This record gives sequence, C-alpha cells and structure tokens, in this order.
Amino acid sequence: MKVAVIGAGTMGRGIAQAFAQCDEVEKVYLCDIKQEFADGGKDMVKKGFDKRIAKGKMAQEDADKILNKIQTGLNSQAVDPDLVVEAALEVMDIKKATFKELQEDIVKNPDCIFASNTSSLSITEIGNGLPKPIIGMHFFNPAPVMKLVEVIAGINTPAADVAKVVEISEKLGKTPVQVNEAPGFVVNRILVPMINEGIQVYSEGVADIEGIDSAMKLGCNHPMGPLELGDYIGLDIVLAIMDVIYKETGDSKYRACTLLRKMVRGKHLGCKTGIGFYKYENGAKTPVDKL
Ligand SMILES: NC(=O)c1ccc[n+]([C@@H]2O[C@H](COP(=O)([O-])OP(=O)(O)OC[C@H]3O[C@@H](n4cnc5c(N)ncnc54)[C@H](O)[C@@H]3O)[C@@H](O)[C@H]2O)c1
Repeated sequence: MKVAVIGAGTMGRGIAQAFAQCDEVEKVYLCDIKQEFADGGKDMVKKGFDKRIAKGKMAQEDADKILNKIQTGLNSQAVDPDLVVEAALEVMDIKKATFKELQEDIVKNPDCIFASNTSSLSITEIGNGLPKPIIGMHFFNPAPVMKLVEVIAGINTPAADVAKVVEISEKLGKTPVQVNEAPGFVVNRILVPMINEGIQVYSEGVADIEGIDSAMKLGCNHPMGPLELGDYIGLDIVLAIMDVIYKETGDSKYRACTLLRKMVRGKHLGCKTGIGFYKYENGAKTPVDKL
C-alpha cells in the first residue's frame, strides 16, 4: 500500500511515521508546501529514532528501513497513493482547495481513498463540491503512540470506505472507533469543553492552576489536569475547536471562556510559545498567575 500524507507538521510527520512502521506499507509520500518543510518533518522522525537508538531501544537498520519508505516532496509527488491522509491547517478553505487539486490534477489512482485528519471540521462540508467523497481519519498526538483513530463518516462517505479505513487503522496497530459526523466528533466534543470549563473555573478564582490540575488528576485519575493538557494541545487549537462546536450547534454551553480567548490573542498558547497556564523554561514548568 502507498500512502500520501499532506502536511508535515506535528501530526503529519507522526502519521507518516505510523504508516511507515507498518509492514504492509511500501511507500509514504510526506508532502508539504515547501520541500524544506517536508524534509523537516522527516528529520523530526529521524531525531526521534536517533534518541531511541542511543538508548539501545531501536536498531539502526530498523530505523533506516522505516525512514527509507518516507519520500519527501510537494503534494505533486502523490501520483499513485491508495490512501491520502490530509493533515494541513485546520482551515476549511485550505482543506477544500488541497483536496480539489489532489483529486483533479495530481492523484491518478481511481480507487484512492481521500481522508482528512481534521480535529473538528465537517467531513461533509470538506467533501462538498469535490469529485470524490471524503472520510475522517482522526489520529491523536503523538500519532505513532496514541492508539485511537476516530473513523468519521460524512453523509456522502461510502460504507466501503469506512470499512477500508477501519481495516487500515487496525493494520497500523490502532483501535478505530466509528463515528458519525458531528461537531468535535467524540473525543474533542467531550474533552475540549472540559478543558474550557477548567479555564472558566480558574477565571472565577475557584482554585489556583495547580489546584485545578491536581484535583482532576487525583480525583478523576486523569493523567494530566485540564490546564496543563490545554497547554500541551495548544490553547489556539482548544479555542478553534470550541468555536467550531459553538458555531455548529449554536448552544451557549459551548461558548469559549473569555480568558481563553484573551490568552490566544496574546500568544500565550502553552508549550509551543513557552507560556500558557504554565511557563516552560529550561525544561522546568511553573504556573503563571493570570488573574
Ligand atoms: N496538533 C494536534 O494535537 C492535532 C491532533 C489531531 C488532529 N489535528 C489536526 O491535524 C491537522 C494538522 O495539525 P498540526 O498540528 O499538524 O498542524 P501544523 O501547523 O503543525 O502542520 C501543518 C502543516 O501543513 C502544511 N500545509 C499547509 N497547507 C498545506 C497544503 N495545502 N499542502 C500541504 N501542506 C500544507 C504546513 O506547512 C505545516 O507544515 C489540523 O487539521 C489539525 O486540526 C491536530
């Protein structure tokens, strides 16, 4: 099987690694808008392997075998994949335009399945106006490690595509869960409003940052508290998903907390900018007082 992964960022490079590690996959086209972005994605995979090799947890030849399957380039290299997994930006117009170009001008295999790794956007709307249907194949970060794949059917997604993507997910060693399209699907519909509520609880002064995170870790057995998890995911992503669920449902219970919006406007996005609910400096993490 040949797979094209569109976008070599956080998710794309992890998805490319997950596919390349599967024996049934012979080639992974890792694509981005610039050759150096695609190369950078592959380089991050290599760096992860180098660390494991240094610790004696991976053999060099195994790493080489996986890396040799990953071919970097622009989207135009994806001429003959059996499956496309799009992991470009979470912007509807970009996803639609990218799939349109792939379907009309690039991919020549008539049986290719076109999947999106969108976190929250409508699968039906992504496919609206395209020659071929779209399916959701939603990986979780870090993609090579996390077991879940949400397989999302839009209203026009053929049942045969759902069955095929379920089968492929299992071959990757993942556990697929079939989901009918709905804003946020399953995980983000439940998880992201919980993080938003954690931020609301903090902004009302109910408890401090570490208190909220400790309460949810010790009281609910969650591996991370909602505020540290928000920092890890990226508060811009948390806000974007809340806004999609709110816009799609019109239900005020999904309204984003104003503190979350303020932090995103100020680029306090969490781990990726070095500051969110915690400050990340020299490998240490300390809570930041925001009130
Ligand atoms: N970050 C997460 O935890 C997470 C989890 C699940 C799903 N997702 C979804 O996965 C997608 C990617 O997220 P990410 O965090 O990897 O983003 P990212 O910003 O790290 O990477 C996106 C990459 O796509 C590239 N790109 C943009 N337009 C492109 C195009 N037209 N063709 C090819 N490449 C293009 C960018 O140059 C960039 O390298 C989004 O839809 C996001 O919602 C993210």
